[in-house]
Amino acid sequence: MPWSERQLALMQGMGLRLWLPPPPMAAAAPAAAPRPAGADEVPAVPAPAQARPAPAIFASPAVARPPASRPATGAADVGTLDWAALRQAVADCRACSLCNSRRQTVFGVGHLQARWLVVGEAPGEQEDQQGEPFVGAAGQLLDRMLAALGLTRAADGPQPLEKRVYIANTLKCRPPRNRNPAAEELAQCEPFLVRQIELIRPRLIVAMGRFAVQALLRTDEPIGKLRGRVHRYQGVPLVVTYHPAYLLRNLPDKARAWEDLCLAAAVAAGDDA
Ligand code: URA
Repeated sequence: MPWSERQLALMQGMGLRLWLPPPPMAAAAPAAAPRPAGADEVPAVPAPAQARPAPAIFASPAVARPPASRPATGAADVGTLDWAALRQAVADCRACSLCNSRRQTVFGVGHLQARWLVVGEAPGEQEDQQGEPFVGAAGQLLDRMLAALGLTRAADGPQPLEKRVYIANTLKCRPPRNRNPAAEELAQCEPFLVRQIELIRPRLIVAMGRFAVQALLRTDEPIGKLRGRVHRYQGVPLVVTYHPAYLLRNLPDKARAWEDLCLAAAVAAGDDA
Protein backbone atom coordinates (compact mmCIF):
# COMPACT_ATOMS: atom_id res chain seq x y z
CA MET A 1 0.00 0.00 0.00
CA PRO A 2 1.46 3.48 -0.81
CA TRP A 3 2.31 5.82 2.06
CA SER A 4 -0.27 8.50 2.71
CA GLU A 5 0.78 12.14 2.67
CA ARG A 6 0.44 12.22 6.43
CA GLN A 7 2.61 9.14 6.90
CA LEU A 8 5.26 10.65 4.66
CA ALA A 9 5.17 13.91 6.62
CA LEU A 10 5.53 12.01 9.87
CA MET A 11 8.51 10.07 8.64
CA GLN A 12 10.11 13.20 7.26
CA GLY A 13 9.63 14.82 10.63
CA MET A 14 11.46 11.91 12.20
CA GLY A 15 14.32 12.36 9.78
CA LEU A 16 13.66 8.97 8.16
CA ARG A 17 14.50 8.70 4.50
CA LEU A 18 12.24 6.44 2.51
CA TRP A 19 12.56 4.91 -0.86
CA LEU A 20 9.41 5.58 -2.84
CA PRO A 21 8.38 3.51 -5.83
CA PRO A 22 7.87 5.51 -8.99
CA PRO A 23 4.27 6.21 -9.99
CA PRO A 24 2.64 3.43 -12.04
CA MET A 25 3.75 3.55 -15.69
CA ALA A 26 2.60 2.18 -18.99
CA ALA A 27 2.93 -1.60 -19.53
CA ALA A 28 6.14 -1.09 -21.49
CA ALA A 29 7.92 0.32 -18.43
CA PRO A 30 10.84 -1.66 -16.96
CA ALA A 31 9.83 -4.33 -14.46
CA ALA A 32 11.50 -2.72 -11.47
CA ALA A 33 13.04 0.64 -10.75
CA PRO A 34 16.58 0.44 -9.39
CA ARG A 35 16.83 1.08 -5.68
CA PRO A 36 18.74 4.24 -4.97
CA ALA A 37 22.01 3.98 -3.09
CA GLY A 38 21.47 3.81 0.64
CA ALA A 39 17.85 2.67 0.40
CA ASP A 40 18.66 -0.50 2.25
CA GLU A 41 19.75 1.52 5.27
CA VAL A 42 16.18 2.64 5.82
CA PRO A 43 14.32 0.23 8.07
CA ALA A 44 10.62 -0.40 7.60
CA VAL A 45 8.45 2.04 9.49
CA PRO A 46 4.99 1.17 10.79
CA ALA A 47 1.96 3.24 9.99
CA PRO A 48 1.14 6.03 12.45
CA ALA A 49 -0.93 4.95 15.35
CA GLN A 50 -3.62 7.55 15.74
CA ALA A 51 -6.21 5.44 14.02
CA ARG A 52 -5.31 2.33 15.97
CA PRO A 53 -7.16 1.51 19.17
CA ALA A 54 -5.07 1.19 22.32
CA PRO A 55 -3.40 -2.21 22.14
CA ALA A 56 -4.30 -4.89 24.61
CA ILE A 57 -0.65 -5.39 25.39
CA PHE A 58 -0.30 -3.81 28.75
CA ALA A 59 2.61 -5.57 30.30
CA SER A 60 2.89 -6.31 33.95
CA PRO A 61 4.85 -3.46 35.46
CA ALA A 62 8.58 -3.89 35.56
CA VAL A 63 8.65 -2.30 39.00
CA ALA A 64 11.15 -4.09 41.15
CA ARG A 65 11.49 -1.46 43.87
CA PRO A 66 8.95 0.97 45.34
CA PRO A 67 9.25 4.63 44.40
CA ALA A 68 11.68 6.65 46.52
CA SER A 69 10.43 7.78 49.86
CA ARG A 70 10.41 11.53 49.98
CA PRO A 71 11.57 14.08 50.54
CA ALA A 72 15.21 13.43 49.86
CA THR A 73 15.69 17.10 49.06
CA GLY A 74 15.98 20.00 51.42
CA ALA A 75 12.39 21.05 50.81
CA ALA A 76 10.09 20.43 53.76
CA ASP A 77 7.63 18.12 52.03
CA VAL A 78 7.87 18.13 48.28
CA GLY A 79 4.75 16.01 48.05
CA THR A 80 2.54 18.87 49.23
CA LEU A 81 3.95 21.64 47.04
CA ASP A 82 1.94 23.40 44.37
CA TRP A 83 3.52 24.40 41.06
CA ALA A 84 4.91 27.71 42.24
CA ALA A 85 6.35 26.29 45.44
CA LEU A 86 7.77 23.29 43.61
CA ARG A 87 9.48 25.49 41.06
CA GLN A 88 10.94 27.58 43.87
CA ALA A 89 12.07 24.48 45.77
CA VAL A 90 13.91 23.26 42.68
CA ALA A 91 15.51 26.67 42.14
CA ASP A 92 16.64 26.77 45.76
CA CYS A 93 17.77 23.15 45.96
CA ARG A 94 21.29 22.55 47.27
CA ALA A 95 20.79 18.89 48.15
CA CYS A 96 23.70 17.64 46.06
CA SER A 97 26.94 19.01 44.68
CA LEU A 98 25.44 19.74 41.24
CA CYS A 99 24.21 23.02 42.71
CA ASN A 100 27.82 24.20 42.76
CA SER A 101 28.42 23.85 39.04
CA ARG A 102 24.99 24.67 37.57
CA ARG A 103 24.22 28.02 36.00
CA GLN A 104 20.58 27.51 36.83
CA THR A 105 18.13 24.73 37.50
CA VAL A 106 16.08 23.33 34.61
CA PHE A 107 12.59 22.71 35.91
CA GLY A 108 10.51 21.58 32.96
CA VAL A 109 8.50 22.97 30.09
CA GLY A 110 5.02 22.57 28.69
CA HIS A 111 1.39 22.87 29.60
CA LEU A 112 0.77 21.99 33.23
CA GLN A 113 -2.11 19.73 32.25
CA ALA A 114 -0.47 18.17 29.24
CA ARG A 115 -1.68 14.66 28.47
CA TRP A 116 1.80 13.53 27.51
CA LEU A 117 4.82 13.63 29.75
CA VAL A 118 8.27 13.06 28.29
CA VAL A 119 10.98 12.32 30.82
CA GLY A 120 14.61 12.69 29.82
CA GLU A 121 17.85 12.46 31.68
CA ALA A 122 19.53 15.69 32.70
CA PRO A 123 20.23 19.17 31.34
CA GLY A 124 23.21 19.59 29.06
CA GLU A 125 25.17 22.73 28.44
CA GLN A 126 22.54 24.54 26.41
CA GLU A 127 19.77 23.59 28.79
CA ASP A 128 21.90 24.85 31.68
CA GLN A 129 22.30 28.13 29.80
CA GLN A 130 18.68 28.55 28.75
CA GLY A 131 16.87 26.97 31.70
CA GLU A 132 14.70 24.76 29.48
CA PRO A 133 14.96 21.01 28.88
CA PHE A 134 15.94 19.62 25.51
CA VAL A 135 16.94 22.75 23.64
CA GLY A 136 20.15 21.39 22.07
CA ALA A 137 20.53 19.03 19.12
CA ALA A 138 18.80 16.18 20.93
CA GLY A 139 15.98 18.54 21.79
CA GLN A 140 15.55 19.56 18.18
CA LEU A 141 15.20 15.92 17.23
CA LEU A 142 12.73 15.44 20.05
CA ASP A 143 10.68 18.39 18.82
CA ARG A 144 10.62 16.94 15.30
CA MET A 145 9.50 13.59 16.64
CA LEU A 146 6.75 15.25 18.66
CA ALA A 147 5.71 17.42 15.72
CA ALA A 148 5.46 14.29 13.58
CA LEU A 149 2.65 13.24 15.88
CA GLY A 150 1.12 16.71 16.00
CA LEU A 151 2.40 17.23 19.55
CA THR A 152 3.91 20.37 21.03
CA ARG A 153 5.81 21.44 24.12
CA ALA A 154 4.21 24.88 23.87
CA ALA A 155 2.37 25.85 27.01
CA ASP A 156 -0.03 28.16 25.19
CA GLY A 157 -1.63 28.32 21.77
CA PRO A 158 -4.67 26.67 20.25
CA GLN A 159 -3.74 23.01 20.59
CA PRO A 160 -5.96 20.81 22.75
CA LEU A 161 -4.49 19.18 25.86
CA GLU A 162 -4.28 15.88 23.96
CA LYS A 163 -1.61 17.43 21.76
CA ARG A 164 0.45 18.93 24.53
CA VAL A 165 3.57 17.51 26.04
CA TYR A 166 5.26 18.40 29.27
CA ILE A 167 8.99 17.72 29.24
CA ALA A 168 10.97 17.10 32.40
CA ASN A 169 14.24 15.50 33.35
CA THR A 170 15.23 13.11 36.10
CA LEU A 171 17.87 15.65 37.18
CA LYS A 172 17.15 19.35 37.34
CA CYS A 173 20.82 20.37 37.29
CA ARG A 174 23.47 19.73 34.70
CA PRO A 175 26.12 17.17 35.65
CA PRO A 176 29.57 18.63 34.96
CA ARG A 177 30.88 17.83 31.47
CA ASN A 178 27.56 16.03 30.81
CA ARG A 179 28.69 12.99 32.75
CA ASN A 180 26.11 10.40 33.69
CA PRO A 181 23.94 11.20 36.68
CA ALA A 182 25.15 9.64 39.92
CA ALA A 183 22.83 7.42 41.94
CA GLU A 184 22.83 9.83 44.84
CA GLU A 185 21.98 12.79 42.60
CA LEU A 186 19.10 10.86 41.09
CA ALA A 187 17.81 9.93 44.53
CA GLN A 188 18.00 13.52 45.77
CA CYS A 189 16.24 14.90 42.72
CA GLU A 190 13.59 12.24 42.32
CA PRO A 191 10.94 13.77 44.60
CA PHE A 192 10.76 16.77 42.28
CA LEU A 193 9.93 14.60 39.29
CA VAL A 194 7.48 12.55 41.34
CA ARG A 195 5.69 15.73 42.36
CA GLN A 196 5.66 17.04 38.79
CA ILE A 197 3.98 13.83 37.69
CA GLU A 198 1.43 14.08 40.50
CA LEU A 199 0.58 17.66 39.55
CA ILE A 200 0.40 17.08 35.79
CA ARG A 201 -1.47 13.77 36.04
CA PRO A 202 -0.46 12.80 32.49
CA ARG A 203 -2.35 10.18 30.56
CA LEU A 204 0.87 8.80 29.22
CA ILE A 205 4.55 8.91 30.11
CA VAL A 206 7.34 8.42 27.59
CA ALA A 207 10.59 7.54 29.34
CA MET A 208 13.53 8.42 27.12
CA GLY A 209 16.81 6.75 27.86
CA ARG A 210 18.27 4.56 30.52
CA PHE A 211 18.16 6.98 33.45
CA ALA A 212 14.55 7.97 32.97
CA VAL A 213 13.58 4.32 32.63
CA GLN A 214 15.52 3.31 35.71
CA ALA A 215 14.04 6.14 37.74
CA LEU A 216 10.45 5.45 36.77
CA LEU A 217 10.37 1.67 36.39
CA ARG A 218 12.98 0.65 38.94
CA THR A 219 14.64 -1.75 36.60
CA ASP A 220 18.09 -2.22 35.16
CA GLU A 221 16.75 -4.02 32.09
CA PRO A 222 18.11 -2.54 28.86
CA ILE A 223 15.81 -0.37 26.78
CA GLY A 224 15.90 -2.90 23.97
CA LYS A 225 14.15 -5.37 26.25
CA LEU A 226 11.65 -2.93 27.72
CA ARG A 227 10.46 -1.16 24.60
CA GLY A 228 7.57 -2.43 22.51
CA ARG A 229 5.14 -2.90 25.37
CA VAL A 230 3.29 -0.71 27.79
CA HIS A 231 4.45 -0.44 31.38
CA ARG A 232 2.83 1.43 34.23
CA TYR A 233 4.09 4.11 36.56
CA GLN A 234 1.70 4.57 39.49
CA GLY A 235 -1.06 3.36 37.20
CA VAL A 236 -0.11 5.68 34.32
CA PRO A 237 0.78 3.93 31.05
CA LEU A 238 4.46 4.32 30.32
CA VAL A 239 6.29 3.67 27.06
CA VAL A 240 10.04 3.21 26.98
CA THR A 241 12.17 4.48 24.14
CA TYR A 242 15.67 5.52 23.23
CA HIS A 243 17.09 8.86 24.25
CA PRO A 244 17.16 11.39 21.37
CA ALA A 245 20.90 11.99 21.91
CA TYR A 246 21.45 8.28 21.37
CA LEU A 247 19.30 8.40 18.24
CA LEU A 248 21.51 11.13 16.81
CA ARG A 249 24.39 8.64 16.89
CA ASN A 250 22.42 5.49 16.01
CA LEU A 251 20.26 6.27 13.02
CA PRO A 252 18.83 2.77 12.51
CA ASP A 253 17.24 2.91 15.96
CA LYS A 254 15.22 5.95 14.85
CA ALA A 255 12.79 3.56 13.23
CA ARG A 256 12.41 1.73 16.52
CA ALA A 257 11.87 5.03 18.31
CA TRP A 258 9.18 5.80 15.77
CA GLU A 259 7.51 2.48 16.55
CA ASP A 260 7.65 3.40 20.23
CA LEU A 261 6.01 6.75 19.59
CA CYS A 262 3.32 5.07 17.51
CA LEU A 263 2.68 2.77 20.44
CA ALA A 264 2.53 5.77 22.77
CA ALA A 265 0.11 7.56 20.43
CA ALA A 266 -2.10 4.48 20.31
CA VAL A 267 -2.19 4.32 24.08
CA ALA A 268 -2.91 8.05 24.35
CA ALA A 269 -5.71 7.77 21.80
CA GLY A 270 -7.21 4.81 23.64
CA ASP A 271 -7.09 6.57 26.95
CA ASP A 272 -8.74 9.61 25.50
CA ALA A 273 -11.58 7.66 23.95
N1 URA B 1 19.15 15.43 27.38
C1 URA B 1 18.23 15.24 28.36
O1 URA B 1 17.98 14.12 28.77
N2 URA B 1 17.59 16.30 28.82
C2 URA B 1 17.81 17.52 28.38
O2 URA B 1 17.16 18.42 28.86
C3 URA B 1 18.77 17.70 27.38
C4 URA B 1 19.44 16.64 26.89
